[in-house]
Amino acid sequence: MTETAHPRTAPLRARAEIDLAAVRANVRALRAHAPTAALMAVVKSDAYGHGAVQCARAAREAGATWLGTATPEEALALRAAGLPGRVMCWLWTPGGPWAEAIEADIDVSVSGMWALREAVAAAEAVGTRARVQLKADTGLGRAGCQPADWAELVAAALAAEARGLITVTGLWSHFACADEPGHPSIQAQLALFREMVAYAEEQGVRPEVRHIANSPATLTLPESHFDLVRTGIAVYGISPSPELGTPADFGLRPVMTLSASLALVKHVPAGHGVSYGHHYVTPGETTLGLVPVGYADGVPRHASGTGPVLVGGKWRTVAGRVAMDQFVVDLGGDEPEPGAPAVLFGPGDGGEPTAEDWARAAGTIAYEIVTRIGTRVPRVYVKVKEEQGG
Ligand SMILES: Cc1ncc(COP(=O)(O)O)c(C=O)c1O
Repeated sequence: MTETAHPRTAPLRARAEIDLAAVRANVRALRAHAPTAALMAVVKSDAYGHGAVQCARAAREAGATWLGTATPEEALALRAAGLPGRVMCWLWTPGGPWAEAIEADIDVSVSGMWALREAVAAAEAVGTRARVQLKADTGLGRAGCQPADWAELVAAALAAEARGLITVTGLWSHFACADEPGHPSIQAQLALFREMVAYAEEQGVRPEVRHIANSPATLTLPESHFDLVRTGIAVYGISPSPELGTPADFGLRPVMTLSASLALVKHVPAGHGVSYGHHYVTPGETTLGLVPVGYADGVPRHASGTGPVLVGGKWRTVAGRVAMDQFVVDLGGDEPEPGAPAVLFGPGDGGEPTAEDWARAAGTIAYEIVTRIGTRVPRVYVKVKEEQGG
């Protein structure tokens, strides 16, 4: 029997089915790609739109010993849901919930002195040793400590460690171009990471984990695996970039299937304008299907006139503009019943488009397609239990 988080007593307008067996299988596949490293499942932004708590549980079952989030609030929400084990978060702003995170035994990341000071002060105030990871900017130019400021951060962290206030549990960094194999920044970042780690270790830091690999590096760059790989998009069965390969090439399976029930099917004459702005005009007498999801649900408006949808066994294309709550497809004279499924994307093996197809149609990346599916679309969890095929 299939377990769901939402009772299906009534047909749903739209649903994002989340295959938790696929999450587990993807985590196992990723562990096989990085057999010498531990695995962090990155579940920020509600697990890229898939549901953080459910996906975190499934990832844990498959051997992800770490969970990663951007914000401390996301990490605290995992704890509140009862998830034990190592959890790390990295996107802090001044005055953040350091004390709560430290008391919840969350690894906190600092990229500079203000953050270290706040973490140390909070640890002192709550009387609990904080687990602190030092983030190095090895070239991404986003978060992380610049090489020129590293000695000061390392020295201050060691001083706080000597006072018993923190433990430096990790040294880490993040790639800029790991999804472009051969990009010169990759080896440059790796070399600088090794240098910055070596410096900190010479000074006396004893990190439990050193890590820099995201999904593309986990899949393509074994020398980047160190002690831990931080995989996000690949956990959800999506290739980090179509140029790297398909999900199947890496033994991955897309987790989310987004579908809606046709709200209306009707005959229209030739020359009929469709949706706002009349950017589509029926070329002949035809049937139109109304798909009741729109940009409020995360269907990209940029896919107006281009997004693919499987209806009645055929790919159709969004006719005219995607509106806030709905869009239209030209069914070419076919007459599926109202309520028939319109599948926007899924793993692809039922003939449906994939999130990657939508990314191409909207001029974006598949990360954005799945992450932006809105809260109005219920997530329906299937294969929740390990023995159901996970
Ligand atoms: C710091 C950090 N590590 C790891 C990841 C996971 O990246 P990916 O989804 O490409 O695996 C992200 C996501 O953006 C991140 O911000």
